[in-house]
Amino acid sequence: MKLWKGRFSKEPDPKTNDFNSSIAVDSRMARQDIQGSIAHAKMLGEQGILSLEESEKLQAGLLELLRDIESGALPIDPDAEDIHTFVEAELTARLGDTGKRLHTARSRNDQVALDVRLYLREACAGLMGQMRALIAVLCDRAEENAEAVMPGYTHMQRAQPVTFGHHLMAYCEMLLRDLSRFEDALHRMDVLPLGAGALAGTTYPLDRARTAALLGFSAVSQNSLDAVSDRDFCAEIGFCCAMTMTHLSRLCEELVLWCSWEFKFIELDDAFCTGSSIMPQKKNPDLAELIRGKSGRVFGDLMGMLTMLKGLPLAYNKDMQEDKEAVFDAADTLKLCLTPLIPMLQTMTVRADRMRAAAAGGFINATDCADYLVAEKGLPFRDAYKITGELVAVCIEKGCTLETLPLEEYRALCPAFDEGVYGAINLDKCVRERTVVGGPAPENVRAQVCRVRALIEDHPTGKGGGTP
Ligand code: ARG
Repeated sequence: MKLWKGRFSKEPDPKTNDFNSSIAVDSRMARQDIQGSIAHAKMLGEQGILSLEESEKLQAGLLELLRDIESGALPIDPDAEDIHTFVEAELTARLGDTGKRLHTARSRNDQVALDVRLYLREACAGLMGQMRALIAVLCDRAEENAEAVMPGYTHMQRAQPVTFGHHLMAYCEMLLRDLSRFEDALHRMDVLPLGAGALAGTTYPLDRARTAALLGFSAVSQNSLDAVSDRDFCAEIGFCCAMTMTHLSRLCEELVLWCSWEFKFIELDDAFCTGSSIMPQKKNPDLAELIRGKSGRVFGDLMGMLTMLKGLPLAYNKDMQEDKEAVFDAADTLKLCLTPLIPMLQTMTVRADRMRAAAAGGFINATDCADYLVAEKGLPFRDAYKITGELVAVCIEKGCTLETLPLEEYRALCPAFDEGVYGAINLDKCVRERTVVGGPAPENVRAQVCRVRALIEDHPTGKGGGTP
């Protein structure tokens, strides 16, 4: 049964309903739809727009409906046009004429804008909880590996020594920014659209602030056309998810590299790997690869939303129904990826010996050698750089490292060198002394871990909460 059937002389063709219906996507908002309707009915009663008796009957009927949907006693009709239609039709079937009064001073246009906000508020709280859990695991692993010297890379070439702890903490910084992006997006969407009606508000004396308070919104929308046309919040959450996925993807790319035989910096736990159907020796980091791969679909969700919106005249257009599939997919995918990533990092074995061995090759202390000539021998940096480059060339020719190159060779290129150079290029020292704020020294890593732990423990409790 269609809500809008009065004007029509025929039932819609089944193909119309199949194409037009959004129930498959929006039935997950049943709870939020009912929650919004309860607040609306309560406010209508308080304002005298409905009698108190009708208002109470509606609220009780809606609560019962919610219980029946959640217990499975009331299955959602897959042929309904959308969740709003389904709830109203079912309420009317149960309450008779009173059910028909629920939609007073409301349109599905302001209703859907509300429901999606309520849903995303909870979904984001769940995602942010998972992101904090990921940060906490990264902090634990970083603390354990605060001293583990590894080569830092630029251009995928060994560059300068860092610590594995420092490397992991870099991802914490990215994830903290991601969290703050979610917080900002939640703050901007903390506005009640209900009351905008179809597009032009209403003549009923609504108390919008009261509905906002009942639903935990801080403000009410200030322009009815904007309120029903705005999907910025969906695109913004889409971007928050996409940016976070970019960070997860980069981390996973590194995990894939690190667990290869070429690196062997880490070993992933068997429980988070898969095998090959033909090559018996294989242990594949499929989960990390799949997280990397799934980032693409989240970017697609974001592009889909932006493209869907860009040509729409005000106010509501049916194109906007496409927002939900995209933003739900973005949030679902991020949730799906975070779920195994957290225990995968928790259980991975770190091969500090392999990192150390890699750090010993590749002349990653060459900058420190040049710095020694500057600090201890007073050479200008550019001269020190050139001499050190020549030393590296000698080492490559002789097949040795800066640590094992005899002092005579050093002195042949620059007589200022003395025994002190070996201390200056010691890898542990090179890392230990990089104590500049933001540097990789073990003491810095420990301080970063403390700072980040305090930040994630001390977070404001978001509205909603829990993963839907
Ligand atoms: N299913 C619709 C959507 O998701 C609900 C709003 C319908 N409004 C309308 N005027 N047809 O956008």
